[in-house]
Amino acid sequence: MKKSIKFLTLIIALLMCLCLVFSACANESGNNLNPDGTDNTGDTGDDGGDEGFGGAAAAGVLVVYFSATNNTEKVAGYIAEITDGATFELVPQTPYTAEDLSYSNGNSRVSKERNDPSLQNVPLVKSTPYDWEDYGTVFVGYPIWWGSAAWPVNGFIKANDFSGKTVIPFCTSASSGIGNSDVRLKEMAGTGDWKAGKRFSASATKAEVEEWIESLDIDFGGAPSATLTYQKTGDGYTVTGDGGQAANIVIPAEHDGLPVVAIADSAFAYSKHTADISSVTIPDSVTEIAKNAFYARIDDLTTVNIGKDSKLQKIGNNAFSGCRALTSIYLPAGLNSLGDSVFNNCGSLDTIAVAAENTRYSGEGNCLIDLATGTLIRGSNQSKIPASVTKIGEAAFRYANKITELTVPVSVTCIEKYAIQNSSIEKIIYEGTGDGWEEVLKASHKYWNLGKNGVQTVCADSL
Ligand SMILES: Cc1cc2nc3c(=O)[nH]c(=O)nc-3n(C[C@H](O)[C@H](O)[C@H](O)COP(=O)(O)O)c2cc1C
Repeated sequence: MKKSIKFLTLIIALLMCLCLVFSACANESGNNLNPDGTDNTGDTGDDGGDEGFGGAAAAGVLVVYFSATNNTEKVAGYIAEITDGATFELVPQTPYTAEDLSYSNGNSRVSKERNDPSLQNVPLVKSTPYDWEDYGTVFVGYPIWWGSAAWPVNGFIKANDFSGKTVIPFCTSASSGIGNSDVRLKEMAGTGDWKAGKRFSASATKAEVEEWIESLDIDFGGAPSATLTYQKTGDGYTVTGDGGQAANIVIPAEHDGLPVVAIADSAFAYSKHTADISSVTIPDSVTEIAKNAFYARIDDLTTVNIGKDSKLQKIGNNAFSGCRALTSIYLPAGLNSLGDSVFNNCGSLDTIAVAAENTRYSGEGNCLIDLATGTLIRGSNQSKIPASVTKIGEAAFRYANKITELTVPVSVTCIEKYAIQNSSIEKIIYEGTGDGWEEVLKASHKYWNLGKNGVQTVCADSL
């Protein structure tokens, strides 16, 4: 399928080149691509009333979806694989439990929300996808709830400007059609070039999705694709790298009929793969990200998509060390082993979230905390250190690039070396007394504030 899209794209591109030569319209290169495969025009509209997209070049493809029981997520994954797109899951701040979703129970959360539209403004963990402006084609996926689009998707629709983007809705349902849910979302958005949506059954296959995408006749901008390499390990496959130049790497859940279970040592480390990678989507099937897997992707990797049903258990030493552009990380419930320095120097992290069910690590206060030791392993630009933290770990805020004030609760008794080195922190507010702070400093590493020893410290009794 991908091949046929590419073949078509090639033919269209050739025809257009000929057209350009013969008509000498040298400045009308709007459908050409930059050498890196990105659109050089920003023009994503169709070319004058054709049913399809008429070969109009789009920038990146993004598949945004909400999925409560993973049916829509599966379809979203297929779309991303077929189009070489990135995915972005809309995650409610309070996820829906099975009880919440019981629509036959008049007292369940969904029933209450259905009856009271004010409850349908479900806050999302993040409502604007990373690098939103880079995407020209946005698929929007949702389940059908009582004949309409499930309302958690509304927060995303209302929060974003779709101008210049082609928007393609899709949904899954038990039996209902898409109804006018796509039209209502279009009206809610008010901007963007919205196409008619498509409904899939809960058990839709990749072949069905491929057939639909082919029927859309979209030029996905000829983005370079990933050519992932694999090694068989036991009953699954380990991804060992990418021989291609894809900026958005979507690792499939299966390869050759077996699950993809791991990402190998240094697979996407900068030393091994120098083409820019801006996002990586890790399928739920992956249980291990080996050491150095994304080591030193200093300024390109902004987005790592890990789903809420991810089976990830282990991340090895330095796996994301040096990824200074990474803005957010989500760690799932089963993660129970983080190596050393996994997020070392990840100073652009604005959000750190850990599934509430995780018993080993917590993301409370946008801090990555080892619950067994009370150590704040990695801080973010939005960290509010909770009282469960007793130690600020080595280099926890190193390179943090937006936070200027750090409030330290009295529960903290020790700060490890290089904790705030190369960060934007200018002021520490200690919630205890000056004497208490002296005790903390005595127990702390002498280089806790290396490179920031002019940091201003204010204690509660001196405020
Ligand atoms: C609250 C609620 C309402 C639903 N209403 C409908 C409906 O009106 N018609 C239908 O065919 N399926 C309905 N379903 C079934 C879902 O649309 C279907 O299972 C869908 O594939 C779920 O997608 P998800 O797994 O991505 O959440 C409903 C499910 C829930 C939880």
